[in-house]
Amino acid sequence: MRKLFKLHLPPRLTLLFVSLAFTVALSGCAKKIILGNTRILKGPYLQNVTQGNITIRWETDIDSPSEVAYGNSIHYGRSVIGRTFTIEAPTTNETSPIPDAFQHEVVISGLIPSTEYHYQVTSVALPSEDSIFTTAATPSDPFRFVVYGDNRTNHDDHQAVVEAIIPTRPDFLVNTGDLVNVGVILEDWDKFFEIEQPLLKSFPLFPCFGNHEGLGGGEYLFKDYFSLPESTGSGLYYSFNYGNSHFIIINTEEAISPGSDQYNWVANDLAAAGGNPDIAHIFAFFHRPAYSSGRHGGSEALTTSLVPLFKTYDVDIVFSGHDHDYERCQDPAIPEGTIYIVTGGGGAPLYDIKAENPFCLGTFKKKHHFCQVDVSGNNIDVVVTDTAGNTIDSFSTH
Ligand SMILES: [Fe+2]
Repeated sequence: MRKLFKLHLPPRLTLLFVSLAFTVALSGCAKKIILGNTRILKGPYLQNVTQGNITIRWETDIDSPSEVAYGNSIHYGRSVIGRTFTIEAPTTNETSPIPDAFQHEVVISGLIPSTEYHYQVTSVALPSEDSIFTTAATPSDPFRFVVYGDNRTNHDDHQAVVEAIIPTRPDFLVNTGDLVNVGVILEDWDKFFEIEQPLLKSFPLFPCFGNHEGLGGGEYLFKDYFSLPESTGSGLYYSFNYGNSHFIIINTEEAISPGSDQYNWVANDLAAAGGNPDIAHIFAFFHRPAYSSGRHGGSEALTTSLVPLFKTYDVDIVFSGHDHDYERCQDPAIPEGTIYIVTGGGGAPLYDIKAENPFCLGTFKKKHHFCQVDVSGNNIDVVVTDTAGNTIDSFSTH
């Protein structure tokens, strides 16, 4: 019962009519009365937070305006209208499935940094519940982010990871990719957003593009479901600043070798971050790991292309997924060098160790988990927690 009548009524009147329809149906009347009542199918979910802006996304079953009320209290006081659009099949494959639904994107601007706001999606018959977002930290503020990934396939395990992350109340989330099992299957995306809803309504998500998002040609769904920071190139790699740190999201499903468009973009992006006096730390994220002892192992292509760039520009920590385990790796010849984390324990079937990488000795954990990263001035503190609440690794760097 997705598409009903397009009848837009004030919320109180709609409630009256819906209860009337219910009463008529219960009284055994031959004709059931069904009234239009726009429902939220996905979201609301937060995207692309900066010190002054945030993007709010949601999906509805019926075409309706994109409007969000927001303010410093539950009384809101301000509202903003955005755009409504439908997802189209790529012109290269017009048989690709498209959601029978409407996407909503509202950008709120002119916000105060490091500030908590209440918000509510109001352009539906029954407004969404009150939720809270927080704008990005300034370079002098401490902040926390959570990294996890490979949550596809086993929904109960994915749910357990989501429930474990929520109490940590991070400022934002980074997913290392493989959010869904098959990128072109709409039901996989429905399930992803259903499980992640309690997380994504309050904490903005910055996703990496995994190999499973590309299965069946699913790039168009990834691009249309997420409102990511603007970037040149394919749209599947991008970067942003948060607090005193720079974050770069790289796509390991497209060319990254020296001379490629993405390689040149990464080199320029890291050089700009390295020359920015407000940036104390650089964090990089991509799906396939450079070093790993797991089933897929590391990638020589990445160690010869990206690793020298990370060394040149003093990248602090690199997070990847793809292998469904946890691991911490570092070149033993450079003890102050870049740390490489594999965090692919978001819900997918866990992998056994395959061949221990000499850069990752003794750190392999076959656990569903997430990584919590606290940044305060020059200090970076990382705590890795499994779904039973046990700390499976922790370390500090600067
Ligand atoms: Fe993968």
